[in-house]
Amino acid sequence: MCYGKIVEPVVDQYVEFPPELPPPEIVEYPPSFGYLEKMKIGNLDIRPGILLAPMEDVTDPPFRLICKRMGADVVYTEFVNSDGLVRGSKKTQQKMSFTGEERPIGIQIYGGDVASMEGAAHMAESFAPDLIDINCGCWVRDVAMRGAGAGLLRDIPKMEKIASTVVKAVKTPVTLKTRLGWDAESIRIVEVAKMCEAVGIAALTVHCRTREQGHKGAVDYSWIPRIKEAVGIPVIVNGDVVTPQNVRAVFETTGCDGIMIGRGAVINPWIFRDAKHFLATGELLPEPTVEERVNLLKEHLRLSIQYKGERVGVIELRKHYSGFLRGMPHVAKIRMELMQFTEAAPILEHLTKFLELYSPRPALV
Ligand SMILES: Cc1cc2nc3c(=O)[nH]c(=O)nc-3n(C[C@H](O)[C@H](O)[C@H](O)COP(=O)(O)O)c2cc1C
Repeated sequence: MCYGKIVEPVVDQYVEFPPELPPPEIVEYPPSFGYLEKMKIGNLDIRPGILLAPMEDVTDPPFRLICKRMGADVVYTEFVNSDGLVRGSKKTQQKMSFTGEERPIGIQIYGGDVASMEGAAHMAESFAPDLIDINCGCWVRDVAMRGAGAGLLRDIPKMEKIASTVVKAVKTPVTLKTRLGWDAESIRIVEVAKMCEAVGIAALTVHCRTREQGHKGAVDYSWIPRIKEAVGIPVIVNGDVVTPQNVRAVFETTGCDGIMIGRGAVINPWIFRDAKHFLATGELLPEPTVEERVNLLKEHLRLSIQYKGERVGVIELRKHYSGFLRGMPHVAKIRMELMQFTEAAPILEHLTKFLELYSPRPALV
């Protein structure tokens, strides 16, 4: 059954955003590349998979583009509420829009009602994403306590019904993102992984915490080898991967097929480029210079305004100042100053001033 009107696909309805900055150099992996096998999700060949995690109010098209240009192999929309979709909410539908440059991209949907998830999957497919992801990991009370997101970890038969219904409803490969279990006493991730494989889920992402932990407490990657032993579908690890060294250690110790990075990309969008360089060469790239940081922030501002208009684009960029400018001298003061602006011109002016102040100058001869 499909609820709601299937909206016209709006893929590429937004102008393509030509990069103003030259894209960074991303290393090519040598052909016989160590322990990393290609990860295949549906027809997508990803090697090695370093993915941008879906994040509400964060992974919008401008930020996804920035991460893509930095080397993210797959990006995801923020989660999209299935009930909102089938009710026909334009704001909810808008969250599924993307531009061609972001591909491969997954649209993530969530909900606790099988029929509305089926309707939402149809609507998501009309946008022609590369993947549709089912959120079974959101820990937020409003979601989990209503039987959606991580709430499905307390009702695995319903999770199975939703997963199998969505897989059957669409031709697009369907992935699923979840946590280890509801709490430490009810870790059922191996059972969930087997169920996912049985119903045709194309890849499983595991945030290696329980619902009870939220975003705090230690991640437990030790379940990943057990999941890998139990299933043949790609397994993507998520949770607390923030440095290139973390990326390599997680690949090496868990045998996972991919790594998904969330907050680590917000505080450092260069993580994808840096991790790939480290995996391929064993060398750590130097921290981005002040100039690189300021230039990338300007590019993000440009994309944000192009996508959302000046006022909203500027205001919504505020959450990114700390990450982009991290490590710069007087970052707290700079951030506070930038926060007061609602127009682009004074921000650009300020950033140019900082750049002049903190960039190394040629020696006087
Ligand atoms: C601000 C924020 C928003 C998030 N929104 C979503 C979401 O929409 N869908 C989802 O599956 N997970 C969401 N998450 C969880 C992340 O995808 C990820 O699982 C979690 O942050 C752990 O990974 P990390 O340590 O790399 O950040 C969100 C996390 C944050 C911090």
